[in-house]
Amino acid sequence: MNPRRELSFYIRSGVSASSVLTDSGRKLLREYSGIADDQIDGHVEAMREKAFEVWKYPCIGMFQFLDLHLVTTDVYQEVLDRVKAGEKFLDLGCCLGQEIRQLVSDGAPSANTFGSDICGGYFSVSYELFKDKDHLQTTFIEADIFDESSPLTERLAGKINIVYTGAFFHLFSLEEQEKAAARIVSLLVPQAGSLIIGRQSGSEEAGPHSRSGDKSDSAPFRHNPETWKALWDRIGERTGTSWEVDADLSSPEYGLSTPASMVGTPDVIRDKMTAKGLRFTVRRL
Ligand SMILES: C[S@@+](CC[C@H](N)C(=O)[O-])C[C@H]1O[C@@H](n2cnc3c(N)ncnc32)[C@H](O)[C@@H]1O
Repeated sequence: MNPRRELSFYIRSGVSASSVLTDSGRKLLREYSGIADDQIDGHVEAMREKAFEVWKYPCIGMFQFLDLHLVTTDVYQEVLDRVKAGEKFLDLGCCLGQEIRQLVSDGAPSANTFGSDICGGYFSVSYELFKDKDHLQTTFIEADIFDESSPLTERLAGKINIVYTGAFFHLFSLEEQEKAAARIVSLLVPQAGSLIIGRQSGSEEAGPHSRSGDKSDSAPFRHNPETWKALWDRIGERTGTSWEVDADLSSPEYGLSTPASMVGTPDVIRDKMTAKGLRFTVRRL
């Protein structure tokens, strides 16, 4: 289906910048990007359209690219201090890179930050969204996490201290998630304290879950905290490493405002807005 027609599905469903953007996303655009309050909604809606043309992820249709998660975590201050002190931060599956911009806005040197995504077309939209092409020193790398000889592995293996990954693991089957997790381990500095932070759709009843109703082993897998910890135990065994996992399912994954009534809201949007969020930190011991 043509991207513009699919985007109109979100527009018809009432998912507009004015209905979902929260103060933190607006503040970042106002203070970091210098966009006037009365220009924000129009700018963000134009950027949604451009990003949707790269690839039509539901998270883009729903403005999740202005949903700031890292700053709400207990480890945010630690992350900021470590990146300020020279450690290297990677946002994996960064899309428009909002988490990187929040860190930079709070004083992290952008030269210590990296963003990677299989869709490199998002990077130019991200500069346009945040108006920082002329000064941001983040290194963006187009790469498929499953490609063992990608520019990501060639350039960053063993060099990253902190990985953030949002709405990423839930795209994949359990088998693929294990491959992605092992790749993350290979990107991290091989020492205690290396850190992975993120969130994704989760479920108390863990298992394959797809919006099409597919329950086969190849369907995307939603975790509960126990299955997520078990995955990291298996990764530890496979890679000869040991990981402490802190994970919870206490709030929705989607952190933006939701319409007061969801009567008549299409399933794909309702599911995204209401799916439990698995929020986690995974720390190397
Ligand atoms: C649902 S979006 C989440 C974006 C962002 N992290 C957030 O939280 O708003 C998932 C992102 O992962 C990227 N992605 C999907 N498959 C990938 C792969 N195999 N390797 C690297 N990135 C991938 C997509 O292009 C997309 O930008």
